[in-house]
Amino acid sequence: MVNVIGLGYIGLPTAMMLASHGVEVIGTDYNKELVATLNAGKMTFKEKGIDELFQEAVAAGIKFTTEYQVTDTYIVSVPTPYDKFSKKVDACYVVAAVKDVMKVCPKGATVVIESTVSPGTIEKYVRPVIEANGFTIGEDLNLVHAPERIIPGNMVYELLHNNRTIGADDRAIGEKIKELYASFCQGEIVVTDIKTAEMTKVVENTFRAVNIAFANELAKICRHDNMDVYEIIRICNMHPRVNILQPGPGVGGHCISVDPWFLVGDYPSLAKVIDESMKTNDGMPDFVLNRIYEIMKEKGMTDISRVGLYGLTYKENVDDMRESPTLQLLESQERHLATGLKVYDPFIEKDVVANQYHNLDKFLAAVDFVVIMVKHNEIKENMDKLAGKVVLDCHNICKLPGVYHI
Ligand SMILES: NC(=O)c1ccc[n+]([C@@H]2O[C@H](COP(=O)([O-])OP(=O)(O)OC[C@H]3O[C@@H](n4cnc5c(N)ncnc54)[C@H](O)[C@@H]3O)[C@@H](O)[C@H]2O)c1
Repeated sequence: MVNVIGLGYIGLPTAMMLASHGVEVIGTDYNKELVATLNAGKMTFKEKGIDELFQEAVAAGIKFTTEYQVTDTYIVSVPTPYDKFSKKVDACYVVAAVKDVMKVCPKGATVVIESTVSPGTIEKYVRPVIEANGFTIGEDLNLVHAPERIIPGNMVYELLHNNRTIGADDRAIGEKIKELYASFCQGEIVVTDIKTAEMTKVVENTFRAVNIAFANELAKICRHDNMDVYEIIRICNMHPRVNILQPGPGVGGHCISVDPWFLVGDYPSLAKVIDESMKTNDGMPDFVLNRIYEIMKEKGMTDISRVGLYGLTYKENVDDMRESPTLQLLESQERHLATGLKVYDPFIEKDVVANQYHNLDKFLAAVDFVVIMVKHNEIKENMDKLAGKVVLDCHNICKLPGVYHI
């Protein structure tokens, strides 16, 4: 039986995938409300195909509880934020979860850390916790790292099809855990050592962050000298060895806006390009805010409350708002003492910010200037409703005449 610890965006789908592929699974989360929701037969977040997977997992007998289980395999999938000052990984959730696993775990068990951590984190923070509990790693307890690569918005497909990495001290243990993931994963599963697995996961997200920053920097250069960044990227990408990403209003989520900081925190004198890239991406919401003020001035608009931000989530067609560019922009706007921007997101039902709308038509009726912060399908399908409005399109998806870009 597998006890999955942490039933969030990663732990829950992983637990459900295992269960729906014949593995006995109990999911544990210390959030009582979350566990009660799951036990009431309701999914806790929206995602393509997730409700069907939930039903399959329930039918296959998955259980949800707040209690840690006595079993032979644990998968720990708890948050790993970064410390805002040191930029280093904050391993406190992983350490707390492993400490609780130690209270119930029998000799011979395998503890799989699925949370993303910087290279050396498991050595520095997890091994000591296990050893302090009297276990000798490799003899009476096995330690594995199995980082996750899935993208919210397409996680069910990617869980099934992505290649994976397993890091283990002992090849045989790595192969055993590979077999467990292979119960559902059709991709290639590479077995390596723990530190290599830690580093690959962080490097993958860093690669994305640096490339996004490059596109964002191009957008700033082109804005400065009145060039069309999208046309330039389109033409450059016709070169056989060039593949530039698209600029945007910033980077959010729990991965690309977080994990590269781990390398800056751990290697401050070496990770220079990464540091600058993260600052570039983090500066984009402010860049968008300045564009809003510039366009308002050009249009003779003075009332910020007639400006609306479309989208609150960190990316399209998901309900995850963590580190979202819109939230960063609103925080920045408050710092500038300018309040009143209106906000709407079809995926966010609860009131989370001031002046928030829950209906597209009502939102559009309340504003003259729309900033497309997130390219949800909803706005793509309703572009004609923006006719006659001032539009700042941060994703180059609106083909109406007179649209502004970042
Ligand atoms: N969200 C993503 O897109 C994504 C993608 C790849 C990897 N990751 C990594 O996966 C890990 C988990 O991220 P997430 O997005 O699922 O986080 P999350 O915040 O959605 O979920 C974490 C869950 O863990 C629970 N939890 C925390 N500490 C606990 C403990 N000691 N015992 C029991 N439950 C506990 C929380 O209540 C929460 O429900 C992170 O390291 C993240 O970097 C995330």
